[in-house]
Amino acid sequence: MRIDILTLFPEMFSKIFEESIIKRARQKGLIEIRIINFREYSKDPHQKVDDTPYGGGHGMVLTCQPIFDCIESIRTEESKIIMLTPDGTLYKQQTAYSLAKEKHLILLCGHYEGFDERIRSLCDYEISIGDYVLTGGEIPAMVLVDSITRLIPGVIEKESHLQDSFNNQLLDYPDYTKPRVFRGMEVPEILVSGDHKKIDEFRKQMSYNRTKERRPDLLEK
Ligand code: ADE
Repeated sequence: MRIDILTLFPEMFSKIFEESIIKRARQKGLIEIRIINFREYSKDPHQKVDDTPYGGGHGMVLTCQPIFDCIESIRTEESKIIMLTPDGTLYKQQTAYSLAKEKHLILLCGHYEGFDERIRSLCDYEISIGDYVLTGGEIPAMVLVDSITRLIPGVIEKESHLQDSFNNQLLDYPDYTKPRVFRGMEVPEILVSGDHKKIDEFRKQMSYNRTKERRPDLLEK
């Protein structure tokens, strides 16, 4: 199994995979881990990787180009691409078991306000490690690598893992940043209308739809 981690903060990973079970799994060649700084793929003269959100609002949004180029240069037919995001599917042990059977995982770590919504079109899975917001996807990526590695045959004895057994209740709305059209995918017209009342309503509706679709249990609360 190979795991590629795409991050803007590669140094966060410098020690974590050099200890204990993961260290031994790497030494035995059962798992290969590569840390890739996707800023290196930015075509911006200042290597910018983020921009302000269309429609206004707080924070910066990660742009499409560096992430698309990075993923397209490393993925193969066997790759599964996973975005770490607080509005993804809740990570469960069952997910770890099924991911441990894959040959190549690409873990995409966000930072700042979030990803341009169109980046999601690249991903096979969107995973959240819990109903709380971290400063980025790096710690969740560590959680995935750790929980998956121990399930790879030969890493630990099978017997030992066979025994293993939120404020407004809404998920976030989709974000978009420049460019307005990327690979034929367009930013919803309303976000460039300048009508902030309508933008608010649109976002609330999107938040509600997404929550209803993905986490109806939150609405029941
Ligand atoms: N990024 C920020 N918070 C996260 C979470 N809870 N799970 C996955 N990625 C995240």
